[in-house]
Amino acid sequence: MSEIKKTRTITEEELTEQRGYADQIAAWNHAYAKETGLHRGYYIQTFGCQQNEADSERLAGMAEEMGYVPVDTPDGADLILINTCAVREHAEERALSITGQFKHLKEKNPELVIGICGCMVSQEKRKERIKKSYPYVSVLFGTSMLYRLPEILYTYLHEKKRLFYLDAGDSGNIAEGLPVRRGDSKQAWVSIMYGCNNFCTYCIVPYVRGRERSRSPEAILEEIRTLITEGYREFTLLGQNVNSYGRDLEENIDFPDLLERICRLDGEFRVHFMTSHPKDATQKLIDVMARNEKAAKHFHLPLQSGSDRVLAAMNRRYTIAHYLDILAYMREKMPDITVTTDIIVGFPGETEEEFLETLNAVERARYDQIFSFIFSPRTGTPAAEMEQLPEDIKQNRMARLLETQNRIMLEKNRACIGKVYSILVEGASRGDKSMYAGRTEGGKLVHFPADEALSLRGQVVNVKITDAETYHLWGTIC
Ligand code: SAH
Ligand code: SF4
Ligand code: F3S
Repeated sequence: MSEIKKTRTITEEELTEQRGYADQIAAWNHAYAKETGLHRGYYIQTFGCQQNEADSERLAGMAEEMGYVPVDTPDGADLILINTCAVREHAEERALSITGQFKHLKEKNPELVIGICGCMVSQEKRKERIKKSYPYVSVLFGTSMLYRLPEILYTYLHEKKRLFYLDAGDSGNIAEGLPVRRGDSKQAWVSIMYGCNNFCTYCIVPYVRGRERSRSPEAILEEIRTLITEGYREFTLLGQNVNSYGRDLEENIDFPDLLERICRLDGEFRVHFMTSHPKDATQKLIDVMARNEKAAKHFHLPLQSGSDRVLAAMNRRYTIAHYLDILAYMREKMPDITVTTDIIVGFPGETEEEFLETLNAVERARYDQIFSFIFSPRTGTPAAEMEQLPEDIKQNRMARLLETQNRIMLEKNRACIGKVYSILVEGASRGDKSMYAGRTEGGKLVHFPADEALSLRGQVVNVKITDAETYHLWGTIC
């Protein structure tokens, strides 16, 4: 694993240098287009969390700055970037399997550049494996090297030598002002901080994303102001633990202060955020959410386990009692709030009784949705060294957890029947064009009939709920 150093903001000179490389590649691409009438295309495959989605929007922005045009399938691409995730083994396997599928494209088109970046390749052992077993991969660069894509590509195109950069020597960097090509015209990701300092014993993120570092409030507010004028209606503030926002800044500002400043901006929009660590979720944050209409009434509060012993072994630094207290306060202040969570089953040493405590916590918390994961040992983390549970026990617990949660979700969704929600319309429902699909502030999916000619995408409408299923609701506009 790479050594982690102090936060450093990428200087204007360094960004100018990168733009210089981008301009040269753009000139080369434009000359090719003029000569052949064809444009060189780029294709990005993204794995992992919203942080990676946001990073891919920056990779796309840089690719376009370099004169590449987006293509819908990897087949027609001249530049393929695979932005990987390392959080569970399955995510790594999928990234490697996709990489394998691109081998024949390189055989067909030797000029094709295949790049792998993101969390998976920020681990030394993965870098070595790719170097040896995937000879058609042209460049590899870790998360802190993202802003140097133009330089990496330029160097590769000139030297035609495979390049492997794990990190920039300052894995605690922040790059402002990179070009970005957003994937949506209404909903935008806004990273407010990077990295993580928590070192939960199962988690690889602190090792591959470096230490916590916050963007300046001015840069964040400026980005959101611009997005509002461009017509964006929904923002999701991103960080591995948004509650520790500002701790590394000289300015005296914490996450609730930032959220309040964002909510006070002019314009019609909603602000979501994720993720919030329960040890740092304060009453102040809940009060700010409650008094600001623009703060979406949705809270993602990862529980991980309902057992105090397991929570301690995970280094989560809260108890189930503390967790339920936060939840109670939240629901007292915002009775209709949507609450979602993450749960890991099969953590090393988790007993049947401890798993039952998790089921019990799920019954008590009555989540609107849970994201449940089977524990996956990550090399280099303390939990990977602990004695592991057999696969069948983990699978069985996962099935029981899902069964419990599905029943609760259906009950909760049925309780919505007859109520009216304001819905941000996402577009026509998949599979039935006479229906629209949208989400409540809390992210519940609602289908409702609408006049086909009427374009409601991006609008907020009131919908009365008429029927409910486990994963979605039905309604009519009112
Ligand atoms: N920063 C966020 C989580 C990021 S990872 C937080 O603290 O909540 C997203 C989720 O993946 C985690 O909440 C956890 O439930 C799950 N996860 C992380 N490492 C895992 C592992 N080794 N095995 C299984 N699930 C894991
Ligand atoms: Fe991983 Fe824990 Fe950090 Fe979340 S808070 S990213 S689970 S170490
Ligand atoms: Fe995966 Fe990296 Fe996100 S490990 S979950 S893509 S921070």
